[in-house]
Amino acid sequence: MDPSLLRDVIGWDIRSWSSALAFWEKHVGPDWSGRTVVEVAAGEGGLSLWAALRGARVVCSDLESPATHAGPLHRGHGVAESITYEAMDATRIPYEEVFDAVLFKGGAAHRACFDGSRALRPGHAARLEVHRGGCRVEVTTAKLPG
Ligand SMILES: C[S@@+](CC[C@H](N)C(=O)[O-])C[C@H]1O[C@@H](n2cnc3c(N)ncnc32)[C@H](O)[C@@H]1O
Repeated sequence: MDPSLLRDVIGWDIRSWSSALAFWEKHVGPDWSGRTVVEVAAGEGGLSLWAALRGARVVCSDLESPATHAGPLHRGHGVAESITYEAMDATRIPYEEVFDAVLFKGGAAHRACFDGSRALRPGHAARLEVHRGGCRVEVTTAKLPG
């Protein structure tokens, strides 16, 4: 991926979080057209940008709607029409079996992983990575039966 796009997608700790992109690619596949994903605790919405560029319909969410923080990045890359914004508590995702992927990095991660699994369609996977001091210290994956 172009380094400046990678910076827009990851924002920080590019080395560690690039591996999460590979994980989602592996589980969702190369073509995300027709896929529906949610980014929780999105901040500036870098993962929403990445998913929208791959063709997904995206719900970009944070405790308060991230439209103001994330909108400029998405508009700048021409993908704003694929993205909607919602205020959403990652520990209480108000969807069940809706999404092909739940994307998150940083913030509310443990609970988001648990609740994210519930929001996934059967057969899809969720992943939690815990980072300390720039190092990946724990990886947990959960996969629901298809
Ligand atoms: C460290 S920032 C990470 C933002 C972005 N994901 C990133 O990697 O740059 C943590 C984010 O988590 C959000 N957050 C914290 N608790 C949350 C919760 N319970 N539900 C949703 N978002 C939450 C904050 O509002 C903030 O945007």
